[in-house]
Amino acid sequence: MKKRRKNVTETVADTTPVTYMNPVPEGEIPMLRLTHVNYRYSAGTPFEVKALDDINLNIRRGRITGLIGHTGCGKSTLVQLFNGLNRAESGTVELDGEDIWKEPKEIGKIRFRVGLVMQYPEYQLFEETVRADIGFGPKNMKLSPEEIEERVNEAAAFVGLTPDLMDRSPFDLSGGQKRRVAIAGIMAMRPQVLVLDEPAAGLDPQGRHSIFSGIRDYGRRTGCTVIIVSHSMEDMAQYCDDVVVMAHSKVLMAGGRDSVFIRADELEGVGLDIPLVTKLTILLREGGMKIDPGLYTVDAMEDALCEAFGLPLYCDSPDGGPEKGGGRA
Ligand SMILES: Nc1ncnc2c1ncn2[C@@H]1O[C@H](COP(=O)(O)OP(=O)(O)OP(=O)(O)O)[C@@H](O)[C@H]1O
Ligand SMILES: [Mg+2]
Repeated sequence: MKKRRKNVTETVADTTPVTYMNPVPEGEIPMLRLTHVNYRYSAGTPFEVKALDDINLNIRRGRITGLIGHTGCGKSTLVQLFNGLNRAESGTVELDGEDIWKEPKEIGKIRFRVGLVMQYPEYQLFEETVRADIGFGPKNMKLSPEEIEERVNEAAAFVGLTPDLMDRSPFDLSGGQKRRVAIAGIMAMRPQVLVLDEPAAGLDPQGRHSIFSGIRDYGRRTGCTVIIVSHSMEDMAQYCDDVVVMAHSKVLMAGGRDSVFIRADELEGVGLDIPLVTKLTILLREGGMKIDPGLYTVDAMEDALCEAFGLPLYCDSPDGGPEKGGGRA
């Protein structure tokens, strides 16, 4: 007797690795797009370090993106690929839709379009005056003296350098002031993308706030795409629109800050602290309070608490007093 064959619909497993790339709105070309990017130090030697492992990432134009992750996870290595300072061993880095290595001889031009402020940039100052140091990049771009002057003054104002400092030697300035000079020097080139690796490292809270708000104003007023590397979730919450989280040489998550902070358990799982306000929100929700889970700044928490307790909203008025509602809850 003929054996009847079982009618099986075979499904062939798709072995292509599924890689996640944070989406961008339809029709938008991301300012930077990294696809399957890998990078090793000392490749092929006993000291080999896999610093970047299959990175897929979109950086959206005109936004401020924070890059965060534990020490040694690959943040500095990653940002040094954005302007071609380093070259990925595989994968592509696209700037405004074009592979930056399409014409390797032209990579110098990419460095004008993507300005990178390295960690502790104050050690790279060398000109005789603050003015000359900030103007060094624009001078290299062969701009006219008037254009250089305009750019130098604009950049100095963004970082809070007062006119009396401009003719001093950068070496006579404080550490925080030197940092500002170095940042202004890159801003003065008016790059399409401004990348800052730990711009506030080693500064006190006031210095941090001043540097970060200057950078945020610069991004907002010029429309420049800004990427800030930081170890602080509080800074990410306060100054960034989008957040990229790295862990162990990979991108763990990327997207709008709400979408990232809401994944508190995963963040804590890789040793990152969520913003204090987000922690408080979680505790309040566990205690039964109906409060928006996506809170991350003190202002947002203030409004949410006022609403929860039926109190009038508090607004800061220009003279520092309450504008409406009669006071802080
Ligand atoms: N020049 C180098 N030679 C060899 N290994 C390096 C070099 N620079 C970095 N690494 C290694 O590559 C990995 C990623 O380093 P990277 O500096 O990119 O991390 P990071 O996230 O910027 O750290 P941090 O927060 O401390 O600045 C680490 O393991 C580091 O030790
Ligand atoms: Mg680093």
